[in-house]
Amino acid sequence: MSAWFAAAYPWIKSAHIVAIVAWMAGLLYLPRLFVYHAMAPIGSDRSETFKVMERRLLRGIMNPAMIGALGFGLLLAGIPDVVDWHRGWIWVKLGFVVVLVGYHGALARWRAAFAVDRNRHSPRFFRAVNELPTLALIAIVVLVVVKPF
Ligand code: HEM
Repeated sequence: MSAWFAAAYPWIKSAHIVAIVAWMAGLLYLPRLFVYHAMAPIGSDRSETFKVMERRLLRGIMNPAMIGALGFGLLLAGIPDVVDWHRGWIWVKLGFVVVLVGYHGALARWRAAFAVDRNRHSPRFFRAVNELPTLALIAIVVLVVVKPF
């Protein structure tokens, strides 16, 4: 690893982790908002307030945080000798990253449906899907820290 890469590596990793924390906060909180939004009568003040909260969370925090997490991750992966591409953990991790990006896309679609009062899912549904990012996060952290295979 050249001196420049060696110096940049911990800073890029810090930025990667900060972006991940912000992104995960949104991935965990937005479906909680959907749980309560799905119980609010259409047209009520409560429902309109949820629309504003959901839009700001997705556009103001989650979209930029996702771009940062993926961008800094790719930068890290591009530093020579950081990843041994013959190991399995990095590929399984990237598989879970695809799952999280897909989940983010699903949340964006559900938010757009709520914005025009066309939500078709129950509060129970949103409670259930909320488990997915938690499981993916646990798997990713174990994979990158323990590197079991
Ligand atoms: C395109 C997507 C991503 C790529 C290419 C990527 C790549 C990387 C690389 C190369 C490292 C450094 C590994 C090392 O120093 O051994 C790293 C660290 C890390 N990544 Fe990612 N990452 C991505 C997305 C994510 C996501 C979505 C999460 C969590 C939800 C995550 C969690 C972590 C954590 C916790 C670390 C720190 C591990 C340590 O302290 O060594 N990454 N990532």
